[in-house]
Parts: sequence; structure tokens; C-alpha cells
Amino acid sequence: MIEFDGTQFLLHTEHTTYAMGLFQGLLLHLYWGRRLHRAPDASICTSFLSRPLSAKDLGDASSDNLPQEYATFGSADLRQPALDVRYQNGSTVTRLAYVDHTVTDGKPPLPGLPATYCEEGDGVQTLEIHLADETVGLDVYLSYTVFPTFDAIARSARIVNHGAAFELDAALSAMVDFHGLGECDLVHLDGAWARERAVTRNRIVPGTQGVESRYGASSAMHNPFLAICSANADERQGDVYGFSLVYSGCFTARVDLDPYNGARAAIGINPFHFRYLLESGESFTTPEAVLVYSADGFGGMSRCYHRLYRTRLCRGKYRDADRFVLLNNWEATYFSFNEDRIVEIAKKAAEIGVDTMVLDDGWFGKRNDGGSSLGDWVENREKLPGGLEALSDRIHALGLRFGLWFEPEMVNPVSNLYEAHPDWVLHVEGRPRSETRNQLILDLSRQEVCDYVIEAVSAVLRRVRIEYVKWDMNRYMSEVGSAKLPPERQGEVMHRYMLGLYHVFETLTTRFPHVLFEGCASGGGRFDPGILHYMPQIWTSDDTDAVERLDIQFGTSLVYPYSTMSAHVSATPNHQVGRTTPFQMRCDVALPGQFGFELDLNRCTDAELETARASIERYRALQCVFHEGDCYRLTGFRDDCAALAFVAPDGETAVVSLLTRKATPNAVDRYIRLDGLDERAVYRCEQDGVCYGGDFLMYRGLAYRCGKEHESRLLVFHRVADDAEKKGESRQ
Ligand code: DGJ
Repeated sequence: MIEFDGTQFLLHTEHTTYAMGLFQGLLLHLYWGRRLHRAPDASICTSFLSRPLSAKDLGDASSDNLPQEYATFGSADLRQPALDVRYQNGSTVTRLAYVDHTVTDGKPPLPGLPATYCEEGDGVQTLEIHLADETVGLDVYLSYTVFPTFDAIARSARIVNHGAAFELDAALSAMVDFHGLGECDLVHLDGAWARERAVTRNRIVPGTQGVESRYGASSAMHNPFLAICSANADERQGDVYGFSLVYSGCFTARVDLDPYNGARAAIGINPFHFRYLLESGESFTTPEAVLVYSADGFGGMSRCYHRLYRTRLCRGKYRDADRFVLLNNWEATYFSFNEDRIVEIAKKAAEIGVDTMVLDDGWFGKRNDGGSSLGDWVENREKLPGGLEALSDRIHALGLRFGLWFEPEMVNPVSNLYEAHPDWVLHVEGRPRSETRNQLILDLSRQEVCDYVIEAVSAVLRRVRIEYVKWDMNRYMSEVGSAKLPPERQGEVMHRYMLGLYHVFETLTTRFPHVLFEGCASGGGRFDPGILHYMPQIWTSDDTDAVERLDIQFGTSLVYPYSTMSAHVSATPNHQVGRTTPFQMRCDVALPGQFGFELDLNRCTDAELETARASIERYRALQCVFHEGDCYRLTGFRDDCAALAFVAPDGETAVVSLLTRKATPNAVDRYIRLDGLDERAVYRCEQDGVCYGGDFLMYRGLAYRCGKEHESRLLVFHRVADDAEKKGESRQ
């Protein structure tokens, strides 16, 4: 619900309020937090107007002392701006004043960009506030979509030029000036290849802190997300303010604490080497930022993001449909396979209940290692003499679906495509083209290159019966330049690449709606909300070791639901870390994600095959609880005991996953407190038949001892119909 009383805007979700106010034509940030019943008085922030040595741009006062809603630079406010513009006369002074606003029902799409959306009955409204700098003919439209039942606000900005040409040096998606911040922490998700999205938490200290990507992808190193939380916040309590960017390219997510306890948090496209020319009449739309406030700690924040991203960001046939239980041949064979070998693996997979066989890298051109053929999407007849058609037919004859790997954004210099179009890659004339994994990046800022990619993938998908595509991307950008754009537009290449990529995704996913697309970037190098708008699941990490995956999935779940995390059981000793873990644990770690396998089942023992078969059955029975239910992290990041609970939307079933990450001899007694249950209800545990009160499970918890290393248990609790009757059966 959106209210305006002449000077103040109030944006209410079910549990939160976001407030802005007008003061001398400026749009100020007044409040964000628990839901308010009365509008705050704008004087709350004007009481700090006078401070020594600030430049006075508001009569006797200074905008440097006020919490701004979308700050510019060059006048009196000397903090980090959200919008930074360079004009033809060399000036960089911009000053925005309120013009007017509109409130509409629903949410308009963002042209060419991924974004959240609403459905009928959501009660969603969008506020668009029009600000302008008349001196230079610049208009800014700030958009706020309020998702009341999701407790989320989606923000973006549109910059329109009505004057002479100017350049955007920074155009962020959202900023929030927290006023009078107490002891607070900054939380983000960091890592590298094969150890993505580790939770990092530090006290916010004076100065600028944050994360950014300069890689041309959101990257494995940082995720386009940050949270600011009260120092006492944990999984269950405390104030948490989340900022998540719906974008897959270079980003910044930062907070700047000033000497007066004001903290300016901001998120958007990374201004580093970004420069976007806007001719008169042109406009620029920023990607969307999704803001979530939770008074219930990180668990509360995550569940808001999970619900919104699963149901109002992901789209298409597979948003709500049960996904596939697949076997991917990558770790089973790497590049060394032929048609018979793949069929042999698929046969065993079919026997234990797998429903999809995926052929990974190495099926095309002359590719027997990473050295050649990316770009030439025609099958290698030495490996696949009957072509993809014959293989797909044999896989389907086993009762399986067939899936295929592509890396369409790339080209190897050793390829027919590169020979024909050496200028189709990102490069700077006269400089060497740095290779990663022997490959270069196709310049998707060019329409004809996007068209090639679309047609190359479409040709295979039209010709061969394929139900699943793994869309990989295995390098970051270097020598970023486009042969097509003039010098003054070279600062636009990275963003234009993203727009091209999203156009390719939109076209292909619309053209082939029956295909389940999975994102991948050397594992989780582009695990972000932008990708999820087109592909409802992403290969979480190239690290398939069960212990490492626990942490990676835990960190990922801060923002992204388990339904988006592709998770496979692989062979031991594990190929990345050499660790040997029990087959049961490998299955239990993968189960809450999009469950699958990444090994040759012909090499498994009968007992392992039995565990795999039973796990598939379990997964099919519990998939809706894992993927549609609410997720509760019951223990902390890298705790020796890793415990998670999922509670079904109807509250009838709860699944608890308990794993011993690290055993301790003669361990201390410990209780794992559940969450999300009805305290008055009684739940029967499927495994031992014991009944427990919901209150007991949540306030006392399940007895747990860190016994054997890598032991794992999955407990399923069913709500018992009449709690009064069953009380006698209950332990408590
Ligand atoms: C990186 C992916 O993350 C792997 O799963 C695999 O598909 C390889 N690329 C293939 O080159």
C-alpha cells in the first residue's frame, strides 16, 4: 500500500514501512523498518541540519546533513552519489528536485532487463517519483514497487535526457541513507571458483566498505548482494536490511559510514569504467534492486527473498513444475566418451530411477579437450557417429529425457567461427587478446552476434529432441572493447553485453518453452537473480564434495532458495578435494537442491545403488517441501553440525536435515531447536514414530551429538490431526 499526504510517502508491506519526505524540493529518506502506524515527521532528519563547515545549499542549511533518497554529486552533498553525470561543458554538478509522482496498480516490466513481476491478487502497487534538474534537461524517474505479502520493495531508476548530450558516470539502482546507525554489521557473500558464496560478516566502521565485480559477470568472487544488520542479529532475531541486485554483470554493493553515524548503502552497476552516453531524447534504465527488511534476523530476510525469487522472478513452465532428476556425464567421463559409453551410463541411471541423461562438454566440433571448437555447434561424428539424433533416440528409448551442454557466449581461436569472424570477440584493436581456458568472449553487444548465437542453439534444439540445456560460461572479461561501437561508447560495452545476453535468453526461452534451462558459469560464477529470471536453476558450484557443498549451499541460501541450486552426487575420492564421504551423506547434502548425479553409476556398489534409488524416491516424495516450503537454517555457517529445516506451505510436513560436518570425540550434548512449526500442534516423526509437541521441538529441540564424522539423517515430521487426542503419545 502506498500513501502520500502532500509531503510524505509511506510504502507499507505487511510487516514493514519505507518512508520518504519532501523538504525544500529535495526527496529525503525518512525511515525503513518495522511497519509504522503513523507517518514520521520530516523534522526527524532536519533536526541535524546545522553542522560546522558544511556548504549551505538550502538557505541556512546543507544537503550534506540530510538523508537523501537518490543522491547526486557536485553541490553541497559530498558523500558517494547514486547518480553521477558529466556534461559537455565539463561540469559534473547535478541537482535533482521533486516534480511530481504517480501511483499505479501492478508493476511495469523493465525494458530489456530481468526483473520481478506480480500476479493478480498480489496487491502490488508501483510508485514513480519524477525528479528533474532543469538546468541540464535531465529527468530521473525513481520506481518503487511494493510487494505487500512478500515484504519486499523493488527499486530502479530511469534517467531521461531532454537537453544536450551527457554521459552517465554512475547510475545506481538504489541507495538508502541510514540515519544514526548504531552498532551494525555488513554481510556479503564472497569466494572464488569452487568455493563460492561464503558468508562474510564485519562490523561497519567509518569509511567505505563493500564488494564489487569488475569481471564482466556477477562472479564467483562476490555476489550482487549485501545486508546491513544490527550487531546482535542472528538467524532468528535482529534487524536485517537486504539489498539484492537483479543483474549478472559488474556491480557495486557498498556502505559508507560518515562521521555523524550516517550510513549510505547503495547497489547497482559498478561505476568503475562504466560510462554511458545519452543523446538528447535517449533514456537509460538501471537494473532492479530488491530491498527486504526483516525484524526476524537473517532467516526472516532469506525467506522473503526465497518466496519472491521462486515465484515472482523465476518464470515459465518449470517455475512450479517438478524438475528433473538428472545424471550429468561430466565428472564420469570428462571429454572422453562416445555414444555407447553415454548410453551405458544412461542405462544404469534409468535402472535406479533417474529421469534425464545430460551430455556435457565435448560433443561438438573437434573438441577433445578445452583447446578448440567453442562456437562450432555441430556434433563430433567420431564420438557420435549417428549424430545427436541417434544418441537422443537411444536415451529416450530408455525412458529418459535428453539434455545437452552449450557454452554459446564463447569461441575458441581454434574454430571455424573465429576464422570467419575474428572481430566478433571482445577485444581492443592493436592489443593481444588474453585467453582463459583457450577461449575468447563473443561480443554480445552486437546484434548480429546475438543472432548467430540464437540461431546456432536453435538449430540444435529444433533438430534434436532435447528437454534440458545446461548454459555454461567459463571465463571473465578482459580487453573489453567492441569493434562495432565508436570510441565514446566503449564504456558501454559491458552493460550492452548484458542486454544482448538477456535478449538471447529471452528469445531462446520463449522459443523453446518446453526446455528446462540451467545456468552455469564454471559452477556458480554467475549465480544471481538476473540469470534466475530466465533459468530457474543454476549449477551451484564445480565443487561437488559433500562437506564443501554444505557451506556453499548454506551461503547461497542467504538470498537464493534451494529450488534454484542444482546439486549432484559425485564419486569419491572427490575430484576437487580428494575427500571420501559416505554415499548417504552425499545424497543427503544434494537432496534439498535440484537433485541429480555426476558419476558413472556402473562403478557403484550394490549398496550405493540402493541408497541412490532410495534417495531418488525420497526426493520425489519431499521435493515440494524442499522447494515450495519455508527454509530455516538451524545452525550457523560452518558449524560442526549442519542442520536445516523445511516446512511445507500447508504446515503439515517438516523435513529436518542433520549432518555431522566434523565429529568430536566424547562430544557435548546439544539440542537443535526447530523453527517454523505450530507450537500448539503435535508432530509425529516418520523415522521413529515418536510424537513431539511443536513447542517442544522449537523451544527445546532435538537431542543431537556430533558422533561420527559425515553421518547424516533426514527426519520427516507429519502434523498429527488432533493434538489434544494425541497428547498422550507425545513425549512432552
Ligand atoms: C564448467 C562447468 O561448471 C562444469 O560443470 C562443466 O560443464 C565444465 N564447465 C565443462 O567444460
